[in-house]
Amino acid sequence: MEEKFVFDFINPVLVARNARLVKLVITYIYGLKKEWVYAGAMSKLKFLDAGCRRGISLRLMLEAGIRPSNAFGIDIDPDAISQARAMSAVGVDYRVESMAHLSFDDSFFDIIFANEVFMYMNNEEVVEASRELRRVINTSGLLFSVNGDTDLILPEGSDGRVKRNFNFQTNELQELISAEFKELCRLNFYPGGEQLKKLPQHISSMGEIEYKMDRNQLKGNYLLSVFKPN
Ligand SMILES: C[S@@+](CC[C@H](N)C(=O)[O-])C[C@H]1O[C@@H](n2cnc3c(N)ncnc32)[C@H](O)[C@@H]1O
Repeated sequence: MEEKFVFDFINPVLVARNARLVKLVITYIYGLKKEWVYAGAMSKLKFLDAGCRRGISLRLMLEAGIRPSNAFGIDIDPDAISQARAMSAVGVDYRVESMAHLSFDDSFFDIIFANEVFMYMNNEEVVEASRELRRVINTSGLLFSVNGDTDLILPEGSDGRVKRNFNFQTNELQELISAEFKELCRLNFYPGGEQLKKLPQHISSMGEIEYKMDRNQLKGNYLLSVFKPN
């Protein structure tokens, strides 16, 4: 029988980027939640990777001390979830779900990570998702989210969907979700240099953009924001 590759290749540059990102998330946790760290509570924290795609970030959070039995990933794309399941540690719970309708109990999570997911939503969907995230996060929890600033010209995603960005000068994302969350801090994830004005036409995939960014050939602004629930 002819064998088929089940998974597409995961670009190591993308994994390296997510590793840097997760490291920043952990650094913020050390800074903002010393009680979690000093009490040795990392292994007790419940973690949601919202819009986890193939679970790259979730797997990296396991390295940082989150237990597989406390790790959850959701994505609306069933293919992404089946790939995530196949690549992850035993015990991680992946579900095909929309951020607008989550199947978890109220206050279930301590940490929610939404890396480049609000970027797929219009304003109404962002507000709706923020309500649901607020419902499932506990009052002392933290929400981390990475999104592009308006100076970042986005290509069509590999799934054919065009992503949007947010104006961080006017606190667009913060305003949109302000009924549910308050922004504590933000960090330019690709700092320094000139801003990206124009995307060369031949760059058609995110992987290639990551590659160029990592080699300092492109300067776009992605920001990591940390929110606490109201
Ligand atoms: C750029 S990928 C996310 C990468 C991933 N967070 C990581 O850190 O590796 C965006 C993902 O968001 C998912 N997504 C988009 N809208 C969503 C929604 N409303 N609910 C859940 N997942 C969504 C897409 O299916 C896609 O897999």
